[in-house]
Amino acid sequence: MRRDPDNLHGEQAMTQNPTLRCPVMTTTAGAPVVDNQNSLTAGPRGPVLMQDWHLLEKLAHQNRERIPERVVHAKGWGAFGTFTVTQDITRYTCASIFSEVGKVTPLVTRFSTVAGEMGAADAERDVRGFAVKFYTDQGNWDLVGNNTPVFFIRDPLKFPDFIHTQKRHPRTHLRSATAAWDFWSLSPESLHQVTILMSDRGIPASPRFMNGYGSHTYSLWNAQGERFWVKFHFRVQQGHRTLTNEEAEALIGKTRESYQEDLFNAIERGEFPKWTLYIQVMPEADAEKTPYNPFDLTKVWPHADYPLIEVGVMELNRNPDNYFAEIEQVAMSPSNLVPGIGASPDKVLQARIFSYADAHRYRLGTHYEALPVNAPRCPVHHYHTDGQMNFMGHRSGAVDAYYEPNSFGGAVQAPQFREPPLKIRGDADRYDHREGNDDYSQPGALFRLLGAAQQERLFANIASSMQGVPAFIIDRQLTHFDRADPAYGAGVRKALKARGIAFTQDAEVKA
Ligand code: NDP
Ligand code: HEM
Repeated sequence: MRRDPDNLHGEQAMTQNPTLRCPVMTTTAGAPVVDNQNSLTAGPRGPVLMQDWHLLEKLAHQNRERIPERVVHAKGWGAFGTFTVTQDITRYTCASIFSEVGKVTPLVTRFSTVAGEMGAADAERDVRGFAVKFYTDQGNWDLVGNNTPVFFIRDPLKFPDFIHTQKRHPRTHLRSATAAWDFWSLSPESLHQVTILMSDRGIPASPRFMNGYGSHTYSLWNAQGERFWVKFHFRVQQGHRTLTNEEAEALIGKTRESYQEDLFNAIERGEFPKWTLYIQVMPEADAEKTPYNPFDLTKVWPHADYPLIEVGVMELNRNPDNYFAEIEQVAMSPSNLVPGIGASPDKVLQARIFSYADAHRYRLGTHYEALPVNAPRCPVHHYHTDGQMNFMGHRSGAVDAYYEPNSFGGAVQAPQFREPPLKIRGDADRYDHREGNDDYSQPGALFRLLGAAQQERLFANIASSMQGVPAFIIDRQLTHFDRADPAYGAGVRKALKARGIAFTQDAEVKA
């Protein structure tokens, strides 16, 4: 039999379909598999022999098919696409992705819910993750945001406790409305995000119909070394579409995978979803003057003060060929920044810069950045060596240069990309993040911009989610609604009464 390099086993395999030419099945070590239907047994009735390596290998591999799901944002949907610059923002940033109008950068996105596990239904009321990895020619830039411009907390120390309240109760193994409202009512900074979550936008119809926000304040710096504070906004071009609780319940009764179906099928049909990327820019010195802390993740910057500036368009136009390899294994991290785009003093952002890469090393392994979906599309030269599953060899650029500094032509540092100094001052202490902070004006402004029908749905959504919550916790939360707007508290009370849910406080009790 002729042996050629592409078909080393030299035969055409027997196949169910005689018109197909199929490759020969092999073990992982490359040896031909003779029989994939019948185990090796002593006689037709068995038992199975230990030496049936193919059987053992198959079972052992199956046992390792699952990796830990993400501790949060476990259920997700993703696709590939491009970002195209439409407006010049080089006065704010020297980031190469924004260097010229018309420049196209490939990217991958992953959308997600926060609290549910991998098998959770898609159309649940929850915040949606909106994460984008831009494969820029100066390294990967990950904008790991949500479909909301703010977040529940402003101090990262509270994140694990907050997430515990969103996950299952240790004894009942059920989600706990009591835990959620207990935490929120004890953390008034959550009111802004809670209001968005309970509004119409709390259940988008699919990722194709929601905005995305970087949420944090980041920074940009330009070729002259000037720094600007910045917020990123993706505004959806398909328009907003949302589901009411009743619509979502009916939909989940029919399919738990409505987002996957919608996003995947739209892209297969050639209906490529698009978002316009805008930035809000704050001159560095303004941070001292705004009536709110611009690095507080529970606050937006009003559009009237910092208008949206158009930057470009994101289009999703290719589905992954293998969900596990390309979406489950994608490793998004706010630590992936590129020259021209930087962090800010935002405490939560600072903590996230640690947390994600740590999660990836646990979930995916030491060399997660080398997986095809995570690998930068530009040259990579570093001096990290060895480690489990290292199939890369040295990355420094020359065989004898496995340390730095060296005299053998290895990669060298690049001071031309130095970031201008981040202006920080203050004594190290544990500052009360509640002191002098207004947790009510912006939620109140949001409440007032919702129309009457939207407000009614907000009241109903909140009241429904308070089923089974003790009255003293509801009382505490009602005070927060009152402080945002008395009509907010009054509306929730009415909706609670209509459902027979107990509370004792008829109006805010002034201290
Ligand atoms: P504007 O009137 O200029 O903007 C209102 C914003 O609210 C728009 O971005 C709109 O998004 C968004 N919006 C509308 N309905 C909802 C909802 N149910 N949930 C979340 N966002 C919604 O007002 P200001 O900039 O002065 O901000 C007023 C309030 O609007 C803020 O307190 C904040 O709660 C909310 N908001 C503000 C944003 C900002 O960056 N300034 C961003 C998002 C919300 P769209 O244009 O896509 O319809
Ligand atoms: C996922 C931590 C706040 C958006 C994750 C993961 C961790 C984490 C550990 C799982 C990562 C993985 O296994 O791949 C934290 C911490 C936070 C925080 C410690 C605050 C202290 C936020 C905020 C946002 C956000 C404020 C949005 C503005 C996301 C998104 C994902 C995610 C979108 C999913 C990424 C993906 O699709 O792979 N977070 N998070 N998180 N987080 Fe956070």
